[in-house]
Amino acid sequence: MTATQVKVKIISNRKIKNNCWRLELDSGAIARSASPGQFLEIKVCDEGLPLLRRPISIHGVNGSRVQLIYEVVGSGTRVLSGRRKGEFLDIIGPLGKGFEYGRKPVGKSVLVAGGMGVAPLLFLARRLKPAKPLVLIGAGSKEQLLCLQEFKAFGCRMAIATDDGSAGFKGKVTEMLDRLLREMPDAGRPGNIYACGPQPMLKAVAKICRGHNISSQLSLERHMACGFGACLGCVVSTKSGYKRVCKEGPVFKGEELVW
Ligand code: FES
Repeated sequence: MTATQVKVKIISNRKIKNNCWRLELDSGAIARSASPGQFLEIKVCDEGLPLLRRPISIHGVNGSRVQLIYEVVGSGTRVLSGRRKGEFLDIIGPLGKGFEYGRKPVGKSVLVAGGMGVAPLLFLARRLKPAKPLVLIGAGSKEQLLCLQEFKAFGCRMAIATDDGSAGFKGKVTEMLDRLLREMPDAGRPGNIYACGPQPMLKAVAKICRGHNISSQLSLERHMACGFGACLGCVVSTKSGYKRVCKEGPVFKGEELVW
C-alpha cells in the first residue's frame, strides 16, 4: 500500500511508564500493509498548534489495530497524550523504508534497542518470531526499561544493560554487544544486527559491526517536517550522497552511513 492520508479512530491512549504512552489506532488498511521500521505522520490536533505532524514509528499491528509508543518530550507529544479513546486522528502512512528481513533470515538475528528504540524492534521481533532473535535492551536505569514482557512473549532471548547497573549488565548496551560478539564462536555469529536508539548508540553499533565484519541495519531518528521526501529537512550523509531519512530511510545499512 502506498502511504495515504486517513482519519483513524483512537482505540486507546494510555500511559505505560514514566513519560511513555501507548497509542492504539483502528486502521485495517495500515495494519495490513505496515512493515517494521516504517512510521506514521500524525497530526496531533485538528485546530491550533502545533501545525507540524509528528513522526512516530509503528510498534506493532494486531488485526486492524495499529500500535505506537511515544515519549512525551514537547508540545506535540503533550497534545497527543491528551487525545482520548473514540476521537479521530489525521495520519499519513505507512511511510519510509523499514528493515529488510527474509521469511527465513540467514543466520541468527540480534536486535539492539536503546530507550525508546524498542518501538520498531518489537514489531520486527514479532515478524522474526520463529527465529527467536536475541534482543539486547539498554536504558539509563531499571525504571526506564520498556517492553521486556512483550519481547519475552514472542520467545526472544534477552539481555539487559543499564547505565547505573540497577538491572543486568552495568554499562552501555553497545559495550554488551561488543563483548557478546567477541565471545561468540564464529559458527554462532549473527547474520544480521538491527538497531534503533539514540544517535551515539547507533554510531557505536555501526563501528562495532564493522569491526566484527557483520552487516547492520539502523533505524535513524530525525526531526521531520513533511515526512514524505519534499522538504529535504531530514537528510543524512551516506557513501552514495545525501539521503532523506523519511524516504530512503529511516532504516539504513550501518556500513553505508557517513557519521
Ligand atoms: Fe521532509 Fe524528510 S521530512 S524530506
